[in-house]
Amino acid sequence: MKGIIEEVLITHSEIKKRCKELGEEVTKDYAGKRLVLVCLLKGSVPFTTELSLNINLDVELEFLRASSYNGTNSKGEVKIDYFFTDSLEGKDVLIVEDIIDTGLTLDVVVRELKKMNPKSLEIIALLNKKDVKTDLKLKPKYVGFDIPNKFVIGFGLDYNELYRNLNFIGVLKKEVYGG
Ligand code: IMP
Repeated sequence: MKGIIEEVLITHSEIKKRCKELGEEVTKDYAGKRLVLVCLLKGSVPFTTELSLNINLDVELEFLRASSYNGTNSKGEVKIDYFFTDSLEGKDVLIVEDIIDTGLTLDVVVRELKKMNPKSLEIIALLNKKDVKTDLKLKPKYVGFDIPNKFVIGFGLDYNELYRNLNFIGVLKKEVYGG
């Protein structure tokens, strides 16, 4: 496995530490409220899990899948599949995203979720590619780590569906994807 990694950017213990900090921040900001975490499948599953374990509130989990990515390049199209138990109407909602690259996916998700009339709608992202220009209309309220514009894998992030199970964030070697 290590043969495909150029560099470990963020270790498992750094991720856990940051998730604890973020969880505490969210707990403080939403004190006394019931919060819906909307997990974007599949990449945000580990982050949603780790984050939710550090949030001391009444939390509901909902899932959706937004597909916009193929290999290492954005395709520019987004399709949304919902796996929701309840409506978001009148609820405090936090979208949990693994990584913000161009922000295209999130923009579409935000637009669609707003139509469900939540009481509040915010974004938390584990990673943000700080050098990529994004036109995100709703800026993330919380960001775990700003990272350089490199293709990363692990902790939910894949390359062609592999490596989501790595417990760290690593840069994929260019020769693996021919970049
Ligand atoms: P965006 O629409 O360009 O912001 O892309 C968002 C989605 O693309 C993320 O939710 C990821 O699934 C995927 N993605 C973007 N950058 C990376 C990366 O470096 N590694 C793995 N997946 C990525």
